[in-house]
Parts: sequence; structure tokens; C-alpha cells
Amino acid sequence: MMIERTFSIIKPHAVAKNIIGAILNVLEHAGFKIIAVKMLHISLEQAAEFYSEHKEKPFFEEVIQCITSGPAIIFILEKNNAIQHFRDLIGATNPKNAIAGTIRAKYATNITENAIHGSDSAVSARREMTYFFQDHEIFPQFW
Ligand code: TYD
Ligand code: MG
Repeated sequence: MMIERTFSIIKPHAVAKNIIGAILNVLEHAGFKIIAVKMLHISLEQAAEFYSEHKEKPFFEEVIQCITSGPAIIFILEKNNAIQHFRDLIGATNPKNAIAGTIRAKYATNITENAIHGSDSAVSARREMTYFFQDHEIFPQFW
């Protein structure tokens, strides 16, 4: 077991639906500690950089539109094996394939508006959290 950090976004459509608390409740209940958090309206430039791995994909425009459509909640989580555990907790990209009880099974609207982002690897987690947070905005768990 290794304490890890992962990066997450509650996507704008979920913020608009008033389910920030419901989603945070699921992940806190699963043992994740929120060690940094902000609300922000992600810009087109930030979104294109954040999703740059997908820039040749057919869904690129859609995912950019989704993530920039209103304010989002961005946060960093800490836990043992946080990266894989969080991917398991959020569920499959397409909510039709997401296991019951996962965040996407509960709260996604469709494959694009799928409620939440979670980093897919240690390299992605590091890249994503340093893109949005400075060191002094992160409060490592001390409890
Ligand atoms: P991806 O990184 O493949 O999924 P995940 O968020 O599970 O890591 O894709 C990034 C986002 O792009 C995904 O959360 C929603 C959107 N997307 C679509 O709109 N259509 C698609 O077919 C795929 C694969 C993703
Ligand atoms: Mg991904």
C-alpha cells in the first residue's frame, strides 16, 4: 500500500445539477481525503491543454464544450492506492458500462457528461494537479 494523490473534476453539468455534495459524500465515504479544492470556470485554452491527449479524437470538441460549459469543482485526493481506487470508484467512461454504485453509474448523464474526471495514471495525476494547483494550495493529510 502506498499513499498516493489523484486529481479530479466534478464536471460543470454535475455542478449545475446541485450534486457536488452528493458526489463528495461518496468519495469521502470511500476514504478519500480532500487535500486541495477550488471552483473555477475552466477556459477553452485550459481545457484543450488538459485534454490534449484526445485532440485527434472525434469527441474532442464535445469534451471541451462539456468541461468549459460552467463552473467546475477541481480537487486533489489522497489515499492508499488513490489513483486506481478512484478510477474504480468513478466507474467506466460510458455510464452504460459503469458498475452499479459507481459515481458515473449514479450521476452521469451520458458518455460526455459523465459527472467526474479521475486521473488515469501517476504521470497523469502529477501533470493534472500541477497544472491547476500550486504547492501552497495543497494541504497534505496530517490526521
Ligand atoms: P477518456 O480519457 O477516454 O475517459 P475517462 O474520463 O474515463 O478517463 O475520455 C475523456 C473524456 O472524454 C471522458 O470523460 C468523456 C469524453 N468522451 C466522450 O465524450 N466520448 C467518448 O467516446 C470518450 C471515450 C470520451
Ligand atoms: Mg482519461
